[in-house]
Amino acid sequence: MKTYPFFLTLFATITFSSCYSQKEHHSKNPNLKDTFKKSFYIGTAINESQIEEKNTAENTLIVSQFNSITAENIMKSMNIHPQKEKYAFDLSDKFVAFGQKNKMFIHGHTLIWHSQLSPWIAEIKDSTELKNVMKDHISTIVSRYKGKIDSWDVVNEAVNDDGTLRKSVFLETLGEDYLAYAFQLAAKADPNADLYYNDYSMTNPAKREAVIKMVKKIQAKGIKIDGIGMQGHWQLNSPTIDEIEKSILAYSDLGVKVAFTELDISVLPSPWELQGAEISQQFENTPKMNPYPQSLPDSIQEKLAKRYSDIFKLFLKHKDKISRVTFWGVHDGQSWLNDWPIKGRTNYPLLFDAKLKPKKAYYSVINTTKK
Ligand code: XIL
Repeated sequence: MKTYPFFLTLFATITFSSCYSQKEHHSKNPNLKDTFKKSFYIGTAINESQIEEKNTAENTLIVSQFNSITAENIMKSMNIHPQKEKYAFDLSDKFVAFGQKNKMFIHGHTLIWHSQLSPWIAEIKDSTELKNVMKDHISTIVSRYKGKIDSWDVVNEAVNDDGTLRKSVFLETLGEDYLAYAFQLAAKADPNADLYYNDYSMTNPAKREAVIKMVKKIQAKGIKIDGIGMQGHWQLNSPTIDEIEKSILAYSDLGVKVAFTELDISVLPSPWELQGAEISQQFENTPKMNPYPQSLPDSIQEKLAKRYSDIFKLFLKHKDKISRVTFWGVHDGQSWLNDWPIKGRTNYPLLFDAKLKPKKAYYSVINTTKK
Protein backbone atom coordinates (compact mmCIF):
# COMPACT_ATOMS: atom_id res chain seq x y z
CA MET A 1 0.00 0.00 0.00
CA LYS A 2 1.31 3.38 -0.93
CA THR A 3 1.72 5.71 2.04
CA TYR A 4 1.61 9.51 1.90
CA PRO A 5 3.69 11.74 4.09
CA PHE A 6 1.78 12.78 7.19
CA PHE A 7 1.65 16.51 6.33
CA LEU A 8 0.15 15.76 2.86
CA THR A 9 -2.60 13.62 4.35
CA LEU A 10 -3.32 16.27 6.94
CA PHE A 11 -3.43 18.99 4.26
CA ALA A 12 -5.84 16.95 2.10
CA THR A 13 -8.10 16.22 5.05
CA ILE A 14 -8.30 19.85 6.13
CA THR A 15 -8.91 21.11 2.60
CA PHE A 16 -11.64 18.56 1.95
CA SER A 17 -13.45 19.12 5.21
CA SER A 18 -13.33 22.93 4.96
CA CYS A 19 -14.69 22.83 1.38
CA TYR A 20 -17.36 20.43 2.48
CA SER A 21 -18.46 22.48 5.46
CA GLN A 22 -18.44 25.67 3.40
CA LYS A 23 -20.71 24.10 0.82
CA GLU A 24 -22.95 22.66 3.47
CA HIS A 25 -23.00 26.00 5.28
CA HIS A 26 -23.91 27.76 2.07
CA SER A 27 -26.84 25.52 1.19
CA LYS A 28 -28.18 25.68 4.74
CA ASN A 29 -27.66 29.41 5.17
CA PRO A 30 -31.03 30.91 6.03
CA ASN A 31 -32.29 34.11 4.50
CA LEU A 32 -35.37 36.20 5.21
CA LYS A 33 -37.00 36.10 1.80
CA ASP A 34 -36.96 32.30 1.48
CA THR A 35 -37.88 31.77 5.11
CA PHE A 36 -41.13 33.74 4.66
CA LYS A 37 -41.69 32.94 0.98
CA LYS A 38 -44.98 31.14 1.61
CA SER A 39 -46.25 33.86 3.97
CA PHE A 40 -45.47 37.39 2.76
CA TYR A 41 -42.89 39.49 0.92
CA ILE A 42 -39.94 40.64 3.00
CA GLY A 43 -38.87 44.11 1.97
CA THR A 44 -36.42 46.83 2.79
CA ALA A 45 -36.26 50.56 2.15
CA ILE A 46 -33.23 51.51 0.11
CA ASN A 47 -31.45 54.86 -0.10
CA GLU A 48 -29.83 56.61 -3.05
CA SER A 49 -26.44 54.95 -2.72
CA GLN A 50 -28.04 51.50 -2.41
CA ILE A 51 -30.15 52.13 -5.52
CA GLU A 52 -26.92 52.97 -7.33
CA GLU A 53 -25.25 49.81 -5.96
CA LYS A 54 -22.31 51.82 -4.62
CA ASN A 55 -21.38 49.38 -1.85
CA THR A 56 -20.92 45.75 -2.90
CA ALA A 57 -21.42 44.28 0.58
CA GLU A 58 -24.68 46.20 1.09
CA ASN A 59 -25.84 45.19 -2.36
CA THR A 60 -25.15 41.51 -1.69
CA LEU A 61 -27.07 41.73 1.58
CA ILE A 62 -30.07 43.43 -0.08
CA VAL A 63 -30.42 40.94 -2.91
CA SER A 64 -29.78 37.87 -0.78
CA GLN A 65 -32.22 38.73 2.03
CA PHE A 66 -35.09 40.75 0.55
CA ASN A 67 -37.62 40.21 -2.23
CA SER A 68 -39.27 43.63 -2.10
CA ILE A 69 -37.98 47.21 -2.14
CA THR A 70 -39.31 50.66 -1.27
CA ALA A 71 -37.42 53.88 -2.04
CA GLU A 72 -36.63 55.57 1.30
CA ASN A 73 -36.69 59.13 -0.08
CA ILE A 74 -36.19 59.54 -3.80
CA MET A 75 -39.85 59.18 -4.85
CA LYS A 76 -41.20 61.77 -2.40
CA SER A 77 -42.63 64.77 -4.21
CA MET A 78 -39.85 67.26 -3.36
CA ASN A 79 -37.36 64.88 -5.01
CA ILE A 80 -39.32 63.44 -7.92
CA HIS A 81 -41.31 66.58 -8.84
CA PRO A 82 -39.18 69.52 -7.70
CA GLN A 83 -40.80 72.08 -10.01
CA LYS A 84 -44.17 72.27 -11.68
CA GLU A 85 -42.82 71.48 -15.14
CA LYS A 86 -39.96 69.29 -13.99
CA TYR A 87 -39.91 65.66 -12.93
CA ALA A 88 -36.65 64.00 -11.84
CA PHE A 89 -36.97 60.37 -12.88
CA ASP A 90 -33.31 59.45 -13.04
CA LEU A 91 -33.12 57.74 -9.63
CA SER A 92 -36.65 56.33 -9.66
CA ASP A 93 -35.92 54.70 -13.04
CA LYS A 94 -32.79 53.16 -11.51
CA PHE A 95 -34.78 52.04 -8.45
CA VAL A 96 -37.34 50.26 -10.64
CA ALA A 97 -34.64 48.73 -12.84
CA PHE A 98 -32.89 47.43 -9.69
CA GLY A 99 -36.11 45.76 -8.53
CA GLN A 100 -36.80 44.26 -11.93
CA LYS A 101 -33.26 42.97 -12.34
CA ASN A 102 -33.55 41.20 -8.98
CA LYS A 103 -37.13 40.01 -9.56
CA MET A 104 -38.42 41.94 -6.57
CA PHE A 105 -41.87 43.19 -5.62
CA ILE A 106 -41.58 46.96 -6.09
CA HIS A 107 -43.45 49.37 -3.84
CA GLY A 108 -43.90 53.07 -4.64
CA HIS A 109 -43.58 55.54 -1.74
CA THR A 110 -45.35 57.98 -1.79
CA LEU A 111 -47.75 60.02 -3.95
CA ILE A 112 -49.64 62.39 -1.64
CA TRP A 113 -47.94 63.42 1.63
CA HIS A 114 -47.78 66.67 3.56
CA SER A 115 -44.11 66.11 4.41
CA GLN A 116 -41.09 66.25 2.09
CA LEU A 117 -43.61 67.95 -0.16
CA SER A 118 -42.40 70.09 -3.08
CA PRO A 119 -42.38 73.66 -1.74
CA TRP A 120 -44.22 74.93 -4.84
CA ILE A 121 -47.12 72.53 -4.14
CA ALA A 122 -47.33 73.62 -0.50
CA GLU A 123 -48.01 77.19 -1.66
CA ILE A 124 -51.01 76.46 -3.87
CA LYS A 125 -54.21 78.15 -2.66
CA ASP A 126 -56.55 77.61 -5.58
CA SER A 127 -58.60 74.39 -5.53
CA THR A 128 -58.74 73.92 -9.33
CA GLU A 129 -55.00 74.40 -9.57
CA LEU A 130 -54.32 71.93 -6.78
CA LYS A 131 -56.62 69.33 -8.36
CA ASN A 132 -54.80 69.75 -11.66
CA VAL A 133 -51.45 69.38 -9.94
CA MET A 134 -52.59 66.21 -8.12
CA LYS A 135 -53.83 64.84 -11.44
CA ASP A 136 -50.60 65.61 -13.24
CA HIS A 137 -48.43 64.32 -10.38
CA ILE A 138 -50.24 61.02 -9.82
CA SER A 139 -51.01 60.24 -13.49
CA THR A 140 -47.49 61.05 -14.69
CA ILE A 141 -45.69 59.03 -12.04
CA VAL A 142 -48.02 56.03 -11.81
CA SER A 143 -48.39 55.62 -15.57
CA ARG A 144 -44.62 55.84 -16.11
CA TYR A 145 -44.24 52.74 -13.94
CA LYS A 146 -47.47 51.02 -14.95
CA GLY A 147 -47.02 47.25 -14.72
CA LYS A 148 -43.60 47.74 -13.08
CA ILE A 149 -44.37 49.23 -9.67
CA ASP A 150 -46.59 46.64 -8.00
CA SER A 151 -48.13 48.73 -5.22
CA TRP A 152 -48.31 52.37 -4.13
CA ASP A 153 -48.67 54.37 -0.95
CA VAL A 154 -51.24 56.64 -2.56
CA VAL A 155 -51.79 58.76 0.55
CA ASN A 156 -49.38 58.88 3.48
CA GLU A 157 -50.20 60.14 7.00
CA ALA A 158 -53.48 62.00 6.42
CA VAL A 159 -54.90 61.25 9.88
CA ASN A 160 -53.77 62.70 13.23
CA ASP A 161 -53.32 60.47 16.25
CA ASP A 162 -56.57 61.78 17.78
CA GLY A 163 -58.50 60.67 14.69
CA THR A 164 -59.02 64.09 13.11
CA LEU A 165 -57.82 64.74 9.57
CA ARG A 166 -54.39 66.34 9.33
CA LYS A 167 -54.34 69.99 8.26
CA SER A 168 -52.33 69.95 5.06
CA VAL A 169 -52.45 71.99 1.89
CA PHE A 170 -54.58 69.18 0.45
CA LEU A 171 -57.19 69.20 3.22
CA GLU A 172 -57.29 72.99 3.53
CA THR A 173 -57.69 73.58 -0.18
CA LEU A 174 -59.81 70.62 -1.28
CA GLY A 175 -61.49 69.31 1.85
CA GLU A 176 -61.55 65.58 2.59
CA ASP A 177 -62.51 64.71 -1.00
CA TYR A 178 -58.83 64.90 -1.89
CA LEU A 179 -58.41 61.44 -0.32
CA ALA A 180 -60.81 59.62 -2.64
CA TYR A 181 -59.59 61.73 -5.55
CA ALA A 182 -56.00 60.56 -5.06
CA PHE A 183 -57.05 56.90 -5.13
CA GLN A 184 -59.27 57.48 -8.16
CA LEU A 185 -56.36 59.02 -10.10
CA ALA A 186 -53.95 56.24 -9.15
CA ALA A 187 -56.43 53.51 -10.11
CA LYS A 188 -56.98 55.14 -13.48
CA ALA A 189 -53.25 55.37 -14.17
CA ASP A 190 -52.58 51.73 -13.30
CA PRO A 191 -55.69 49.62 -12.66
CA ASN A 192 -53.57 46.60 -11.69
CA ALA A 193 -51.36 48.20 -9.03
CA ASP A 194 -52.33 47.67 -5.38
CA LEU A 195 -53.24 50.99 -3.78
CA TYR A 196 -52.52 51.60 -0.08
CA TYR A 197 -53.27 54.12 2.62
CA ASN A 198 -50.14 54.29 4.84
CA ASP A 199 -49.62 55.78 8.31
CA TYR A 200 -47.90 55.51 11.71
CA SER A 201 -49.54 54.90 15.15
CA MET A 202 -52.02 52.68 13.34
CA THR A 203 -52.61 50.63 16.49
CA ASN A 204 -53.90 53.66 18.37
CA PRO A 205 -57.68 53.07 18.78
CA ALA A 206 -58.81 56.62 17.92
CA LYS A 207 -56.66 56.69 14.83
CA ARG A 208 -57.70 53.18 13.84
CA GLU A 209 -61.39 54.09 13.97
CA ALA A 210 -60.78 57.21 11.89
CA VAL A 211 -58.77 55.34 9.25
CA ILE A 212 -61.48 52.67 9.01
CA LYS A 213 -64.13 55.38 8.57
CA MET A 214 -62.05 57.05 5.88
CA VAL A 215 -61.49 53.80 3.97
CA LYS A 216 -65.21 52.97 4.15
CA LYS A 217 -66.05 56.36 2.64
CA ILE A 218 -63.66 55.74 -0.25
CA GLN A 219 -65.09 52.25 -0.78
CA ALA A 220 -68.67 53.61 -0.65
CA LYS A 221 -67.83 55.85 -3.61
CA GLY A 222 -66.87 52.75 -5.59
CA ILE A 223 -63.21 53.81 -5.65
CA LYS A 224 -60.49 51.19 -5.48
CA ILE A 225 -58.38 50.90 -2.33
CA ASP A 226 -56.50 47.64 -1.84
CA GLY A 227 -54.57 47.90 1.36
CA ILE A 228 -53.63 49.48 4.64
CA GLY A 229 -49.99 50.13 5.39
CA MET A 230 -49.08 50.09 9.06
CA GLN A 231 -45.68 51.78 9.17
CA GLY A 232 -44.48 50.00 12.32
CA HIS A 233 -42.02 52.52 13.81
CA TRP A 234 -42.24 50.83 17.18
CA GLN A 235 -40.52 50.57 20.57
CA LEU A 236 -39.37 47.62 22.69
CA ASN A 237 -42.56 47.67 24.76
CA SER A 238 -45.10 49.42 22.66
CA PRO A 239 -47.45 48.88 20.98
CA THR A 240 -48.45 45.60 22.61
CA ILE A 241 -48.87 42.44 20.55
CA ASP A 242 -52.54 42.55 21.45
CA GLU A 243 -52.94 46.07 20.01
CA ILE A 244 -51.15 45.05 16.83
CA GLU A 245 -53.36 41.97 16.47
CA LYS A 246 -56.57 43.94 17.02
CA SER A 247 -55.46 46.32 14.28
CA ILE A 248 -54.59 43.59 11.77
CA LEU A 249 -58.06 42.12 12.30
CA ALA A 250 -59.89 45.46 12.16
CA TYR A 251 -58.17 46.61 8.96
CA SER A 252 -58.52 43.30 7.17
CA ASP A 253 -62.23 43.31 8.04
CA LEU A 254 -62.46 46.12 5.49
CA GLY A 255 -61.69 43.50 2.84
CA VAL A 256 -58.23 44.97 2.14
CA LYS A 257 -54.68 43.67 2.54
CA VAL A 258 -52.54 44.67 5.50
CA ALA A 259 -48.85 45.46 5.02
CA PHE A 260 -46.18 46.40 7.54
CA THR A 261 -44.42 49.00 5.51
CA GLU A 262 -41.68 50.66 7.59
CA LEU A 263 -40.81 48.28 10.41
CA ASP A 264 -38.08 49.22 12.91
CA ILE A 265 -37.84 48.93 16.69
CA SER A 266 -36.12 51.78 18.52
CA VAL A 267 -34.14 50.68 21.59
CA LEU A 268 -33.47 54.26 22.73
CA PRO A 269 -35.45 56.43 25.14
CA SER A 270 -38.26 58.33 23.51
CA PRO A 271 -38.28 62.08 24.23
CA TRP A 272 -42.04 62.25 24.38
CA GLU A 273 -44.85 60.05 25.46
CA LEU A 274 -46.51 59.37 22.15
CA GLN A 275 -45.15 56.66 19.87
CA GLY A 276 -45.65 58.15 16.41
CA ALA A 277 -43.28 59.06 13.62
CA GLU A 278 -44.02 62.73 12.97
CA ILE A 279 -40.82 63.56 11.14
CA SER A 280 -40.90 67.32 11.76
CA GLN A 281 -40.20 66.83 15.49
CA GLN A 282 -36.61 67.15 16.76
CA PHE A 283 -35.21 67.10 20.32
CA GLU A 284 -31.83 67.77 21.96
CA ASN A 285 -29.15 65.04 22.06
CA THR A 286 -27.93 64.40 25.65
CA PRO A 287 -25.96 61.40 27.08
CA LYS A 288 -29.15 60.24 28.80
CA MET A 289 -30.96 60.11 25.49
CA ASN A 290 -28.05 58.32 23.75
CA PRO A 291 -27.14 55.57 26.23
CA TYR A 292 -25.35 53.09 23.89
CA PRO A 293 -23.01 55.15 21.67
CA GLN A 294 -20.42 52.31 21.39
CA SER A 295 -22.36 49.06 21.41
CA LEU A 296 -25.67 47.56 22.43
CA PRO A 297 -25.59 45.71 25.80
CA ASP A 298 -26.43 42.00 25.58
CA SER A 299 -29.52 42.38 27.73
CA ILE A 300 -31.03 44.88 25.26
CA GLN A 301 -29.92 42.77 22.30
CA GLU A 302 -31.90 39.90 23.87
CA LYS A 303 -34.94 42.11 24.43
CA LEU A 304 -34.86 43.24 20.82
CA ALA A 305 -34.60 39.62 19.64
CA LYS A 306 -37.58 38.62 21.80
CA ARG A 307 -39.61 41.61 20.62
CA TYR A 308 -38.97 40.81 16.96
CA SER A 309 -39.77 37.16 17.57
CA ASP A 310 -43.11 38.01 19.22
CA ILE A 311 -43.98 40.33 16.34
CA PHE A 312 -43.12 37.81 13.63
CA LYS A 313 -45.03 35.04 15.42
CA LEU A 314 -48.06 37.29 15.24
CA PHE A 315 -47.41 38.07 11.56
CA LEU A 316 -47.23 34.34 10.81
CA LYS A 317 -50.47 33.73 12.70
CA HIS A 318 -52.15 36.23 10.34
CA LYS A 319 -50.15 35.54 7.20
CA ASP A 320 -53.39 35.13 5.22
CA LYS A 321 -54.10 38.83 5.84
CA ILE A 322 -50.56 40.21 5.47
CA SER A 323 -49.11 40.96 2.04
CA ARG A 324 -45.67 42.34 2.91
CA VAL A 325 -43.36 43.15 5.80
CA THR A 326 -40.82 45.83 4.94
CA PHE A 327 -38.00 47.02 7.22
CA TRP A 328 -37.22 50.73 7.14
CA GLY A 329 -33.61 50.38 6.11
CA VAL A 330 -31.10 47.59 5.50
CA HIS A 331 -28.80 47.88 8.54
CA ASP A 332 -28.44 49.83 11.79
CA GLY A 333 -25.69 52.07 10.43
CA GLN A 334 -28.01 53.74 7.92
CA SER A 335 -31.25 53.81 9.90
CA TRP A 336 -33.12 57.12 9.95
CA LEU A 337 -33.57 56.50 13.72
CA ASN A 338 -29.93 57.55 14.28
CA ASP A 339 -31.12 61.09 13.48
CA TRP A 340 -34.77 61.14 14.43
CA PRO A 341 -36.29 62.42 16.65
CA ILE A 342 -32.84 63.38 18.01
CA LYS A 343 -29.87 63.99 15.74
CA GLY A 344 -26.63 62.02 16.06
CA ARG A 345 -27.69 59.11 18.29
CA THR A 346 -26.70 55.47 17.85
CA ASN A 347 -29.78 53.30 17.51
CA TYR A 348 -30.04 49.55 16.83
CA PRO A 349 -33.50 49.06 15.30
CA LEU A 350 -32.96 46.54 12.46
CA LEU A 351 -31.89 42.91 11.99
CA PHE A 352 -28.39 43.66 10.65
CA ASP A 353 -25.79 45.70 12.55
CA ALA A 354 -23.73 48.57 11.15
CA LYS A 355 -21.12 46.04 9.97
CA LEU A 356 -23.92 44.23 8.09
CA LYS A 357 -23.73 41.21 10.41
CA PRO A 358 -26.99 39.48 11.35
CA LYS A 359 -27.96 40.25 14.95
CA LYS A 360 -29.64 37.98 17.52
CA ALA A 361 -32.91 39.50 16.36
CA TYR A 362 -32.25 38.18 12.84
CA TYR A 363 -31.98 34.59 14.06
CA SER A 364 -34.98 35.00 16.35
CA VAL A 365 -37.05 36.14 13.36
CA ILE A 366 -35.81 33.23 11.19
CA ASN A 367 -36.58 30.80 14.03
CA THR A 368 -40.23 31.82 14.22
CA THR A 369 -40.93 29.53 11.26
CA LYS A 370 -39.47 26.50 13.04
CA LYS A 371 -41.88 24.22 14.88
C1 XIL B 1 -37.90 59.19 6.53
C2 XIL B 1 -36.57 58.80 5.91
O1 XIL B 1 -36.19 57.54 6.38
C3 XIL B 1 -35.52 59.84 6.25
O2 XIL B 1 -34.31 59.57 5.56
C4 XIL B 1 -36.03 61.23 5.90
O3 XIL B 1 -35.08 62.19 6.34
C5 XIL B 1 -37.37 61.51 6.54
O4 XIL B 1 -38.29 60.50 6.16
N1 XIL B 1 -42.71 57.88 7.68
C6 XIL B 1 -42.57 57.75 6.32
C7 XIL B 1 -41.19 57.74 5.75
O5 XIL B 1 -43.55 57.51 5.61
O6 XIL B 1 -41.16 58.29 4.45
C8 XIL B 1 -40.21 58.47 6.63
O7 XIL B 1 -38.91 58.29 6.07
C9 XIL B 1 -40.28 57.94 8.05
C10 XIL B 1 -41.66 58.15 8.62
